[in-house]
Amino acid sequence: MLRRLMTALSIAACLAVTAVAVRAQETMRGSARIEALLARMTVEEKIGQLVQMPGGRQRTPSSRINDEERARIRAGRVGSYLNVAGAAETRALQRIAVEETRLHIPLLFGMDVIHGYRTIFPVPLAMASSWDPAVPERAARIAATEAAAAGLHWTFSPMVDIARDPRWGRIVEGAGEDPYLGAVMAAAQVRGYQGADLSRPDTIMATAKHFAAYGAATGGRDYGGAEIGPRSLEEIYLPPFYAAAREGAGSFMAAFNEIDGVPAHANRALLRDTLRTRWHWPGLLVSDWNAVAELRNHGVAGSEADAAELALRAGVDVDMSSQAYANALAARVARDPALRALLDRAVRHVLIAKERLGLFDRPYARSDAAREAGAMLTPESRAAAREIAARSIVLLRNESGLLPIAAGVRRIAVIGALAEDANSQLGSWRARGNVEEVRPLLPALREALPRAEIAAVGNDIPAAVAAARRADLVLLVVGEDFDMTGEARSRAELGLPGDQQALADAVLDTGKPLVVLLMGGRPLAVDRLAARAPAILETWFLGVEAGPAIADVLTGRVNPAGRLPVTFPRASGAVPFPYDRLPSGRPADPDPAHDTVRYRDLPITPLFPFGHGLSYTNFTWSDFAVRPLANGSFRASVTVRNAGGRTGDEVVQLYAHDPVASVSRPIQELRGFRRIALAPGEAKRVSFTLSPAQFAIWNAGHWRVEPGEIQLMVGASSADIRGRASIRIAAAGEGREPPAAIFTSSSEEPIR
Ligand code: BGC
Repeated sequence: MLRRLMTALSIAACLAVTAVAVRAQETMRGSARIEALLARMTVEEKIGQLVQMPGGRQRTPSSRINDEERARIRAGRVGSYLNVAGAAETRALQRIAVEETRLHIPLLFGMDVIHGYRTIFPVPLAMASSWDPAVPERAARIAATEAAAAGLHWTFSPMVDIARDPRWGRIVEGAGEDPYLGAVMAAAQVRGYQGADLSRPDTIMATAKHFAAYGAATGGRDYGGAEIGPRSLEEIYLPPFYAAAREGAGSFMAAFNEIDGVPAHANRALLRDTLRTRWHWPGLLVSDWNAVAELRNHGVAGSEADAAELALRAGVDVDMSSQAYANALAARVARDPALRALLDRAVRHVLIAKERLGLFDRPYARSDAAREAGAMLTPESRAAAREIAARSIVLLRNESGLLPIAAGVRRIAVIGALAEDANSQLGSWRARGNVEEVRPLLPALREALPRAEIAAVGNDIPAAVAAARRADLVLLVVGEDFDMTGEARSRAELGLPGDQQALADAVLDTGKPLVVLLMGGRPLAVDRLAARAPAILETWFLGVEAGPAIADVLTGRVNPAGRLPVTFPRASGAVPFPYDRLPSGRPADPDPAHDTVRYRDLPITPLFPFGHGLSYTNFTWSDFAVRPLANGSFRASVTVRNAGGRTGDEVVQLYAHDPVASVSRPIQELRGFRRIALAPGEAKRVSFTLSPAQFAIWNAGHWRVEPGEIQLMVGASSADIRGRASIRIAAAGEGREPPAAIFTSSSEEPIR
């Protein structure tokens, strides 16, 4: 376990370990079977293992499979497919590979199973809002069971890119802005997909993507370059990848972007020195779609052959769809025999993955038509989807207790076109999800409130106003549809699209009690709406059980407890605005007369801070205390009591700050959290155990623990701190792991 290697090491010892690791990595061998295969393979067959062909598009998997493709398999010129799915289809192609090729090497079938295969769960950003790693783990487990039954071995998920700029459309696919939360959610998904044993036929290999700093695209423009320094890379963008690697993620995908001018697919320092040598990761590295050939567009390769060679040298094992390896690598290897070892290395990674998945022994185990027929969207999966969706909803505001909907409310107006947009609930990437299988809000609400009269109006402003006037309560459903976030869906404006703000203003003018249901895959800058709306619920895109889950929360059947995994800005021009900023020499001051790090034309606070979320009950916090443990660690404990009348969950959040260090440190960094359930009147003591290594700083190529004070803050959000204490780190040390990827152990004990 890499975690156990995290000890205080002297620089000399550290270098010695690294040297050993390099040798181990460069001489890594597969099993006897794999080495025997490698010895028999021609260069063309080896390259074939590195070629991944698209078998169709995601909505039409297997559609490209024709005689030419079957001939390619027979000739041993393809090692894996993307978007071939279905037990029958995968079995037929696998049979060609296993029975009709010279070396009988099975194929790998991969797909983007991002938040469900047939049972579509909330989008990843929503699941991260649960602040409960069991949520994405459970969703990934069910997704794996379904996908594996359809013959798949491999998913291009989890996306673990930290996203601090909500203009970036792919923010919807990840866990938000924070490296610690991101690392916890990354590991949880890897566990869910891969299960305890990847050779079991109900598992699929996980891919941590996009390595690395894809979310740091300048200006949030998708595919754009990242201008970040080595410390930001190590401390902010890499920890979730490290956590995924440590959890045993079988695969990594390189990113489309460059960092400081070096495209990831040509970035040897990242793909080999960091991932293989420093992290000892033994898995399979796949390119992103067409990205090997795109090294020409980046301007670092003059030809397809240069691009192929550059990527192979950098450490890209599999070429997803660009065919640069298929077209050009053989000639390069013939010209330069030194490339043979690199070719073997890449092929070894592919064969080891196939072996780990059990494919050499049971190539058809996942392509089982009977299992496929029974595995999809079972009642149990639907029930899980509903619970998971409800746990992902965030109550952002609830003035005068508008929610849950009071028993006396008889006439409800549901206003906004998104209320009836079942398609959007599937979000970006929906694998084999079907819109007809989504249970939308309106019927679910009618079922949950059979005695209420529920009227629905889309975006017709006069009709909406008339309906609002007749109603006791207005549910205003606004935000973005599914096609406004996702790949190539960056946006410059983060306000409500179209005429929704005018609709909202007109309906708010009626003065009727009103609850906003926000939908979308990114935080929206809805300052103007929030200034007037008494209640706001962030519902993201919640998958097949979106309607029942929202109804559960509206009616109080479920008490919401999601928390924001990302800051909500007040204006589009105010991003990025993550909570863990550096203090600056002129720390933020609410008084605009002072020249400090802020905008003149905006309040100093974000619209809703990272970690924010409310409940239908309320909690009191007391007795925050920290004590040193014998092993050099610290235990921080706080008591939380449910002081209200309903059962509910609180999310206890632990933040740290290093006030004096060799480099400026963030004003707050999440270092632990725990979602706890409390009955009315019940209290629990929540404890976190922290080690000095969790405060290490990346400096000059090393993780260094600096002696001195660390301030700890415990709170209900990053902006709602309920207790403060300090610890002292006595001795300097060196570490191997990013501190945000060292998980804080926590516990809860009842208090009478
Ligand atoms: C995306 C990847 C995805 C791949 C295959 C690319 O455009 O960036 O995240 O896995 O396509 O669909």
